[in-house]
Amino acid sequence: MELSDFIGLIHPVIAVAVVFPLIGIVANFAWQTRQRRLQTLASNKSKIPPVVGLEHRQLGNWLTGSVVGLTLIGLAYPIGESIIKNQLLNKQTFQVTFILLMFTATIISLAFLYRANSQLWRAIFATLTGTGLVILGCQDGVFRRTNEWYWSHYYIGMAAAMLMIFSLAIVPDIYKDRSHRWRVIHTLLNCIALLLFIGQGMTGTRDMLEITLNWQKPYIYSCDFVSKTCPTPNPIPQNK
Ligand code: HEM
Ligand code: HEM
Repeated sequence: MELSDFIGLIHPVIAVAVVFPLIGIVANFAWQTRQRRLQTLASNKSKIPPVVGLEHRQLGNWLTGSVVGLTLIGLAYPIGESIIKNQLLNKQTFQVTFILLMFTATIISLAFLYRANSQLWRAIFATLTGTGLVILGCQDGVFRRTNEWYWSHYYIGMAAAMLMIFSLAIVPDIYKDRSHRWRVIHTLLNCIALLLFIGQGMTGTRDMLEITLNWQKPYIYSCDFVSKTCPTPNPIPQNK
């Protein structure tokens, strides 16, 4: 395995070893938070400790950071590969500087979103973080699979990342709102997010099957992907 193949594994490994276990823990605390609230409402008592809501929120904070981070790593690999392959560092220095600034600006916006209190600033930093991801996603090299968007690792991943950013942005509203409107919106949207994460597991592993090892690429890319045929190799001489 070459170094570039190995670097390509960073994103899937973090997804499998860090992000997906975190999703499981956050979902478990979410379930308990809801059960505790409903039990307390019905009978004024519950065996579930009150700390589950806090644990869900704290790990939810980590989840947003790790999903946005994972998305940035997923985008950095194909963008970086395209910059190196096309030698853009010398040819289009402005574009490369812009891309680096966008990565930095997205991370800074997310950091500010964690600290923002007022609704206006939370909306501004959430929009900036989301916009940063979309602008980076539009760069050359990113395989978006737009013709099959419903089955695309890029679009599903972007949607999941946006839902995580939105969840972080509305945390104070969930607590403040006595009518539970934000709580219901949060629950509904994040049930969709759970489905999107499953979709990411499926499309990500499929993409790993489709992306071949670097040394095999010249042979694989000489194949016709529409008719699913590859040039037949020269026959091996019989007497060898
Ligand atoms: C897999 C993703 C997630 C799912 C499925 C999920 C689901 C839920 C559910 C079912 C509840 C309880 C609603 C109720 O009481 O009826 C809840 C509460 C809450 N969630 Fe999430 N959530 C997720 C991610 C997040 C994230 C990323 C954050 C923050 C960054 C977050 C922040 C909160 C907060 C602050 C509450 C209120 C907790 C309390 O009552 O103490 N959630 N969530
Ligand atoms: C929360 C879960 C995940 C998110 C948000 C996410 C997001 C992304 C994004 C935005 C990209 C760049 C666009 C693209 O090339 O498709 C990407 C690329 C990729 N992801 Fe994921 N991903 C997640 C989980 C996974 C998993 C579980 C795997 C495999 C086990 C995986 C494998 C890949 C691969 C192979 C690429 C292609 C990199 C390249 O173009 O060379 N991802 N991911």
